[in-house]
Amino acid sequence: MHDDRQSTFIMVKPDGVQRGLVGEIISRLERRGLRLVAAKVMHVDESLAKRHYEMHAEKPFFSSLIEYITSGPVVAMVWSGDKAIEAARSTMGATDPIEATPGTIRGDFGLDIEKNLVHGSDSEESAHREISLFFADDEL
Ligand code: RTP
Ligand code: MG
Repeated sequence: MHDDRQSTFIMVKPDGVQRGLVGEIISRLERRGLRLVAAKVMHVDESLAKRHYEMHAEKPFFSSLIEYITSGPVVAMVWSGDKAIEAARSTMGATDPIEATPGTIRGDFGLDIEKNLVHGSDSEESAHREISLFFADDEL
């Protein structure tokens, strides 16, 4: 039996919540076969936003990214399953919705590279880091 079970941190970003796409996004991840382990609606404050996106601190879009992610409620979630990190990223589609394949979340609902609806961890290391940033042990 092959089992590459992973957990990944997924967040519906403020534009996804505001546009009423939370159910659609959760539904697509569930249909893909991933399992929802934890979820909460929350507001990301500036300090958490800067820690979450610390790898982008030197990028030209950093301040605008922090402003965007703190602009309204998000849905923070942990999903698990076989190769969950890659599976979630491929369900989400490419970072730039213009390039994202139709059939993916970003390819079906987005046009804006920054307001791209959803975040997903890009490696096991970032998944561990992000899950512990957003969730206490007793929430998991
Ligand atoms: P995410 O971290 O949110 O899952 O997205 P990602 O891995 O596909 O993309 P990443 O390179 O990590 O970028 C993080 C977020 O920054 C915004 N972004 N803006 N203006 C720009 O050129 C630009 N590039 C990236 C997007 O919101 C992206 O998801
Ligand atoms: Mg990323």
